[in-house]
Amino acid sequence: MIRITELARERVERVLGNGDLAVDATAGKGRDTLFLARAVGPAGRVIAFDIQRQALAETASLLKQNNLAHRVSLVCGGHETMAAHVDAPVAAVMFNLGYLPGGDHGIVTRPETTRRALASSLELLRPGGLITLVLYSGHPQGDQEKKAIVNYCRELDGALYSVVQVRLLNRRGAPPELLVVKKSKNQP
Ligand SMILES: C[S@@+](CC[C@H](N)C(=O)[O-])C[C@H]1O[C@@H](n2cnc3c(N)ncnc32)[C@H](O)[C@@H]1O
Repeated sequence: MIRITELARERVERVLGNGDLAVDATAGKGRDTLFLARAVGPAGRVIAFDIQRQALAETASLLKQNNLAHRVSLVCGGHETMAAHVDAPVAAVMFNLGYLPGGDHGIVTRPETTRRALASSLELLRPGGLITLVLYSGHPQGDQEKKAIVNYCRELDGALYSVVQVRLLNRRGAPPELLVVKKSKNQP
């Protein structure tokens, strides 16, 4: 079974190396944060955002269990404030949108703040860097968010960014989709 979240990690793993800076824009249960903390190596750093203390506590606990807490800074705040917390060129930014699994399904990412966070990520990304977004259209605001983000990406300058959309064609319901945004290595 192909999992969209694993596809996102596979793509990100290809651009990350020891000493890189990576951002988890939606820490949630910490699985992507843990993946990034491993992928940036002993000299690397990860900054992870979430608006829920419960999510950050779960992420902190997962990192501690894996002895990787020292590589990660946790920010209790919206990813739309990313530019205030991230100061160096970033190799990869991961977004896994929607709500915290097992948490309050009323607390979800929102089209406008996600779009602002994506715009900041594009600015902070180093040439050759990558952004992944896992989009869920199966919850009330999810479809609106997915359309807003897909439309935003469609308008990105093709000379500066390549955008790929991955869809599971034969899964019932509203399966998640993946967007991969790559910044050109040769920026003007
Ligand atoms: C699907 S979960 C992320 C799952 C996570 N990547 C993992 O691997 O476990 C989405 C998370 O986004 C968080 N969130 C919602 N709005 C946010 C915002 N403006 N900034 C940062 N996180 C936000 C929610 O609190 C929730 O924990």
